[in-house]
Amino acid sequence: MRRKLAAGNWKMNGSGADLAMLGELARRHPAPDCQVLICPPATLIDRAARAVDGSAIAIGGQDCHFGANGAHTGDISAAMLAEAGATAVIVGHSERRQDHHENNDMVRAKAEAALAAGLTAILCVGESQAQREAGRTLDVIAEQLAGSMPQDATAHGVVIAYEPIWAIGTGLVAEPAQISQVHEFLRAQLRQRLGEQTGQAIRLLYGGSVKPANAAEIFAVADVDGALVGGASLSAADFAPIIAALDASA
Ligand code: PGA
Repeated sequence: MRRKLAAGNWKMNGSGADLAMLGELARRHPAPDCQVLICPPATLIDRAARAVDGSAIAIGGQDCHFGANGAHTGDISAAMLAEAGATAVIVGHSERRQDHHENNDMVRAKAEAALAAGLTAILCVGESQAQREAGRTLDVIAEQLAGSMPQDATAHGVVIAYEPIWAIGTGLVAEPAQISQVHEFLRAQLRQRLGEQTGQAIRLLYGGSVKPANAAEIFAVADVDGALVGGASLSAADFAPIIAALDASA
């Protein structure tokens, strides 16, 4: 059985005052069946981790450097995130692939650094609008997966998030059939690459404009084990119903 995961990605949003939502979330979901993770900006991780202490909510980072330490001004290592209280880190988000020119090799190295530091790597893949229109969606996903999957991936250490770029922050949600096609493909690829046991046990998240209003429909899709949520993870009013929908899904 794969434990479902509701992961929130605050991106470059939120201040110390917004951490109050963590308490509100914990009050509304004191013992969720699913795992709940919030990834605030790095500057808030330490405070966020203290704020959720004793609750069912975990804290993650949004990126890490692939090195352990060294002359990398402005960067943060996976071990630093872990020390601050993170238990997971997002790697290879399309905004990082675009804004920071991260390629598959870098993303794989980051995922490996995350595993080495004891963090769960949430590895993002997804096609652009142009790639989808050109009929290249599955080729792009296969290439990203092959290039950025860490060595020695384990079911505990790796989560894959399918995030079609055209659905991120746009209000456009992939159709259930589109999500199903990619998740089924990802599952088959994972089983082929990692063997039956690990391939079946790795969790697959959907991300891209997940909201309270569409969450139940998305969670009903086979092989969707949860969501990576941007905008709707910033408030308890939006994120709590998404957790409820995930807990209610079969
Ligand atoms: P969104 O972002 O929910 O705001 O579309 C999702 C993501 O980028 O992880």
